[in-house]
Amino acid sequence: MTVPADGIDGKESHVSVNQRKKVILSGMRPTGKLHLGHLTGALENWVALQGEYQNYHLIADYHALTTNPDTSDILQNSLDMALDWLAAGIDPAQSPVFRQSQVKQHTELHLILSMLITTARLERNPTLKEQVRDLEMENIAYGHLGYPVLQAADILLYKGEVVPVGEDQLPHIEITRELARRFNAQYPAEPLVFPEPEGKITRFARLPGLDGRRMSKSIGNTIFLSDSPEEITKKMRTAVTDPQKVRKGDPGHPDICLVFAYHNKFNPGEVAEIRSGCESGALGCVDCKLRCAKRIADTVAPMRARRSELETHIDRVHEILRDGETRARAVAERTMDDVHRAMKMG
Ligand code: TRP
Repeated sequence: MTVPADGIDGKESHVSVNQRKKVILSGMRPTGKLHLGHLTGALENWVALQGEYQNYHLIADYHALTTNPDTSDILQNSLDMALDWLAAGIDPAQSPVFRQSQVKQHTELHLILSMLITTARLERNPTLKEQVRDLEMENIAYGHLGYPVLQAADILLYKGEVVPVGEDQLPHIEITRELARRFNAQYPAEPLVFPEPEGKITRFARLPGLDGRRMSKSIGNTIFLSDSPEEITKKMRTAVTDPQKVRKGDPGHPDICLVFAYHNKFNPGEVAEIRSGCESGALGCVDCKLRCAKRIADTVAPMRARRSELETHIDRVHEILRDGETRARAVAERTMDDVHRAMKMG
């Protein structure tokens, strides 16, 4: 029986036996321990999409070099991130978890794709412009300009069809689509080598950091998935609340309070009561924060338990990565055979 090309033309196939799952490529740069923003913005979705799709989970360690060539923390940061992924419920048996640097085809496809896009096109990338502004960079590295080309290689190497991303990444998905089209047009083959992947926005309402700013490890306004209940409570006490609610009894405005945003996410069963308690003044901010901290601690408790179990058997994590890398490499090699054949270089 032939495998139906479902997903490529959007039509459902009626063949269930051999039905091919759509391919999802999800990736993050290894920034170390993950925080609540990663959980609500990405990980929860990755876990939810696990059965329905064929997932690949990429640790984009080469991408980390685009803004900082220092590699002293990269291995530890990659392990920390892998631990949090596994703790959050990524099943490495279903979905390979692997480091970009260990699958050499990423760099090879990156090079080929880099011939199919102009520097002017890359300079127009709004995400790059924002980064340059935020990091106050005077000059950017050649490799940094090519960041989305490497990302396109990450996705296309696995013939990814869906990419779960935040909004800031959509320009990169657009570049990936352009590169897939350019490659297919320049090097036609039957069937065409690359699908055109779609970005799937998974980060809706962004959870703010404890100071109300964007949640970021470097700002230090985050709660880590691996934080203890005591650490969570301590951090939650510092959270900014409605400035007009100075003491218990003052009426508050939950819609502008970030602690309420956290309740919304982590304590949905009690939001109505918390809203009315806050608005009437009956609920003070300290109590409100303690209740919130408790819920967050309950949410992350099973992840912390799995994480510490894995931490004591870190060789298992190394083994998971090695296995993921072997499986990823096998797929990547097949794609590169298709690529070279289409280019008449193979
Ligand atoms: N650019 C992504 C980010 O900063 C990380 C990334 C690298 C990625 N390669 C990818 C995401 C491939 C999705 C698919 O978040």
